[in-house]
Amino acid sequence: METLETKIENGIGWIILNRPDKLNAINLKMLEELEAEAKKFEENSEVKVIIFTGNGKAFSAGADISQFKELNSISAWNFAKKGRKVMDYIESITKPTIAMINGYALGGGLELALACDFRIAAAETSLGLPEINLGIYPGFGGTQRLVRTIGKARALELIMTGDKISASDAERIGLVNKVVPLSSLKEETIKFASRLMEKSPIALAILKTVVLYGNDSPLLDGLNMESLGWGVAFSTEDEKEGVNAFLEKRKAEFKGK
Ligand code: COA
Repeated sequence: METLETKIENGIGWIILNRPDKLNAINLKMLEELEAEAKKFEENSEVKVIIFTGNGKAFSAGADISQFKELNSISAWNFAKKGRKVMDYIESITKPTIAMINGYALGGGLELALACDFRIAAAETSLGLPEINLGIYPGFGGTQRLVRTIGKARALELIMTGDKISASDAERIGLVNKVVPLSSLKEETIKFASRLMEKSPIALAILKTVVLYGNDSPLLDGLNMESLGWGVAFSTEDEKEGVNAFLEKRKAEFKGK
C-alpha cells in the first residue's frame, strides 16, 4: 500500500496512516486505501475493534493541500464528496472504531477522528479545523459531525477561528474521550479496546446503529429503533449467555452469535 499500513493483532485491526514526511496529509490515494482497508476489516470476523492512528509525529494534518492548486469548483466538490463518503462509510462500520490520536489531528485528520466512535489523544498533541485560514472550511463531514459532538457554539468557534486546541481542552469540551501521555497512548488504547472486545459484538453493533441513526431522527423514530433493536438482541445466544451468567454469578463469555 502507498499510504497506509495495516495489521491484525489480538482482535484489533490497525489502520495506520503512513505519509509521515507529509504529516499523514490525506490525498485521494489515501482516501481510496482507507475505504478499501476499512471494508476488509469490517468483513473480517477476526477483527473485533478497528483502531486508526498515524505514523510519525501526526495523526493527520488534514487534506493534502498540495492537491488543492489543481482543483476547480467541480473537482473540489467531487474531492469533498469522495472524502465525505469515506468518512460516512467509516462511521457506518458496526464494529467499534477508535481514533488513537498520536499527534496533530487537524482538518480532514480531525474529521476522520470524528467519524470514529471514540477519540483517545496524546496529551502532547493539538487538534483543530484550520481550513478557514485557507479561505475554505471543513469538507469531509466536519461541519456536521463536530456540531453533533460538541454543540453549535463550540463547533462554530473552532471552525470560524481555525484555532488549534490542546488535548486537555479537547477533553474538557467533549471532543476526545480520554487524554493520556504519548508514552502510554498505545497501551491505554489497547486496554480500552480490550474492554469492548469482552462485550457481545452483536449487541454493540445494534446499539451503535441505534445511537448513531436514532440520534439523527425525530425522537419517536429513535425511540422506536431502540425498542426494536432491544427486541432483536433477545434473538441472540449472547443475550442468553449474558443473562445466565449474571444469574449463575459468573463472567459472561460472549461468542457473537
Ligand atoms: N497538506 C499537505 N502537506 C502538508 C500538510 C497538508 N495538510 N500538512 C503538513 N504538510 C507537509 C508540509 O508541507 C511539510 O512538507 P515539506 O517538508 O515537503 O515542506 C511537511 O508536511 C511537514 O510540515 P511542516 O509544516 O514543515 O511541519 P510543522 O511541524 O512546522 O507544522 C503544522 C505542523 C501541522 C502546524 C503545519 O504543517 C500545518 O499547518 N499544516 C496544515 C494544516 C491544515 O491547514 N490542515 C487543513 C487542510 S485542509
